[in-house]
Order: sequence, then structure tokens, then C-alpha cells
Amino acid sequence: MTNLDLEFVRSQFPAFSQENLHGWGFFENAGGSYACGQVIDRLNRYYRETKVQPYGPYPASKRAGEEMDSARARLAGLLNVEVNEISIGPSTSQNSYVIANALRGGLGEGDEIIVTNQDHEANSGVWRRLGTQGVDVREWQVNPVSGELDLADLDKLLSSRTRFVTMPHCSNIVGQINDVSAAAEKVHGAGALLVVDGVSYAPHGFPDLGNLGADIYLFSLYKTFGPHQGVIYVRAGIQDQLENQGHYFNADYPEKRLTPAGPDHAQIAATNGVADYYETLYAHHFDGQASLAEQAKQMNGLFAAHEKNLTGQLLDFLRSRNDLRILGPVSGDRKVSTIAVQPDRSAQEIATALVDKKIMAGSGDFYAVRLLEALGVPLNPGVLRLSFVHYTNQAEIDQLIGALEQTL
Ligand SMILES: Cc1ncc(COP(=O)(O)O)c(C=O)c1O
Repeated sequence: MTNLDLEFVRSQFPAFSQENLHGWGFFENAGGSYACGQVIDRLNRYYRETKVQPYGPYPASKRAGEEMDSARARLAGLLNVEVNEISIGPSTSQNSYVIANALRGGLGEGDEIIVTNQDHEANSGVWRRLGTQGVDVREWQVNPVSGELDLADLDKLLSSRTRFVTMPHCSNIVGQINDVSAAAEKVHGAGALLVVDGVSYAPHGFPDLGNLGADIYLFSLYKTFGPHQGVIYVRAGIQDQLENQGHYFNADYPEKRLTPAGPDHAQIAATNGVADYYETLYAHHFDGQASLAEQAKQMNGLFAAHEKNLTGQLLDFLRSRNDLRILGPVSGDRKVSTIAVQPDRSAQEIATALVDKKIMAGSGDFYAVRLLEALGVPLNPGVLRLSFVHYTNQAEIDQLIGALEQTL
């Protein structure tokens, strides 16, 4: 099997040749990834060459609009869905807020929705607030020891009154990859919709949304090597269940209905850079033509193999320690390279001490307050989170392990 060419991958990211970042191991990728050069170049070019109102008749304006349209279309291609199923808004927190309002009108007294306590608050609070209008909000709770969600527990919560279920594809703390397809089958069996937060999952490979089973799927481009925007997927068949949240005269424009903030032209256009990046990687690693969805699938396989190897090494080291608790799965295939630990010493002190070893890592609750409470982890200082993606190399993992050995 082809291996990921790390030298080539890293050459696509200006951060790796940036003097101020030289020698630093970056382990806060779950907070936001480095941007690939293709995105930075496109953003720069947009601001220099086409920073005018898009979709007008003059050349710079036409080009601006075309680039925005092609960004949506290529993103849809990567995700294996139709372009009209994709909107781009300011952030996932903002987007979930809008989606919750779009679904609000369809809910009535006695309806039920199911939320989890494994989610980042962006996919929790907005849904729970719907409980104020007579809707019964039920909580699908994690196992308090492992932090994992068990599908059998979902069965007990679903009923004929369930209108929708929200869940994370992957937790930003325990890193568990949830079986969204299996959950979708159950949720659809109950006649309800499934809303999935994919923010922590998508940096490890764009999902095949055409086949995943989620009705609504959200993720953030600034964690997937792109600009600071959030992607909304709404399956075509359910779009009429979401009330227009844009200006009334824009109700028939799929890309405008769920983005009342209005589009960030330059950042949307620069999203093409994410597709450019995938195409560049694919052309380097594989022969022949393939659809964007197929290219994403092939690259995901290479990312996963590489990340799994490095994750295994880090987990082996962490498991050998008796001065910390690993949150979530401690090994295995169902974990992405996001590892949170509760050290005996303060997580914040350790994150600060790691700076001397040129390690960038974070501590705290990472807005997964309900999950930390369920796991019995004090919110302050919270957990130490070590997260990386496919561009992380062996030397950086060695640097991290060495630094932890000296610091813990
Ligand atoms: C799992 C998860 N969901 C949602 C969000 C919110 O995303 P955004 O920053 O785009 O609002 C985050 C942010 O860190 C996250 O980690």
C-alpha cells in the first residue's frame, strides 16, 4: 500500500517553514489546524484581485462569484453530496444556533429530542434550549468511566415522539469515533432526524456524507486546513423541514436560507484551496483520474494509517504512566488522534511547562463541560489535550513523548 509522503504533505503548509514556528511541536490541532498554502494563496489573491461585490457583470466581480460557487461545488464533491445540500456560515457554533432555530417551528408540545453529554457545547446548548417550549429534552449519557456513548442506550431513549437526535461524530475530548451509520438506522427507524457534529472528525478525513446517514452534518473548515468558516450539510429530502433563516426574499436560495450573517466572500472563495490541497495530495500519491469523493476516500486511508501508527505510540507511552488517567478509549481503531489526559498534577501547569520543550498543547475543558462533569474531572484545570493530524511526523511525536517524560 502507498504510504503518506510526509515531506510532501508538510511542504504544502507554510507553517512548517516559518521561522517563529521552527522546532515547535504542534499538538493543539483539535483547536484549529495549520492552513495549507493553497488556502492562504487563494485568500491573499482574492483580497488583492477580486475584493469587490461578487456576482456583478464586471470581470473581477464575475470571477469572485465563480470562485465562491466553485468552492461550494468542490466541497460538495469532496463530501459526496449535491451542491445545494451545502451552505457555508461563520462557524459551527453559529451554524448550529441557526439550524436549531430553523427546526424550532416544527416542534410542538410533547415532542422529544435527544442530546448527548459527550458533545462540545456548540452541539448541545442550542438544542437543550428548545426544551423551553414544552419539548422533552432527553440526554443520551456517556459511560462515566470511559466517556463512551453506547448505542444500546439510544434505543431506550427513542420513541415515536422523538423528532431528532443530535450527537458528535467524534468527541473533542475522548476522541471516540461514534458509529453514526448505526445510530442513523435507529433514529430513522423511529421516524426522527439525525444531526451530527463532525468538527472533531473531519480533520482526520472528510466523511462520505452521501452514505453516512446523517440528515444534518456540521464541521469547521479552520480545523480542516482551511479558512475560519463552518460547513452545513442538510440532506435535500429534509430541507423543507427547516424554516428559512435568511431574508424572506432569499428563501428559495439553498445557500442563503441558513446563513443569516451573509457570506464571507473571500473565505468562501478560499475554501477552494482545501479541494486544491486534496487534489495535489492525490495526484502525488496515486495515478489516474478520480472524482473528488474518491480522492478524499483514498487520501483518508493514508491519513488514517499514519495517524493510527503515531496515536498508538503516544497511547503506549501514556498507558505506561501511573500518574495520569487517559480519557476515552485507550487503544484501538475507534479513536482519532485526539488524546485527553487527566494528570495527577495540574493540566494547566503541565501545558505551561511543555512550552519550555517547544510543545504547543492546551489544557482546560475545551467547551465539553458536561462531558468532564460526567467523567468527574474538575473543570479547572481540566484536561491536558494532545491532538494532531496527518501532517504530524515521527520526530514531533518523539519530541512530545520526551517532553512529557520530563514534565509529568
Ligand atoms: C467538537 C466541536 N464541535 C463544535 C465546535 C465549535 O466550532 P466553531 O469554533 O466552528 O464554532 C468545536 C470547536 O472547537 C468542537 O471542537
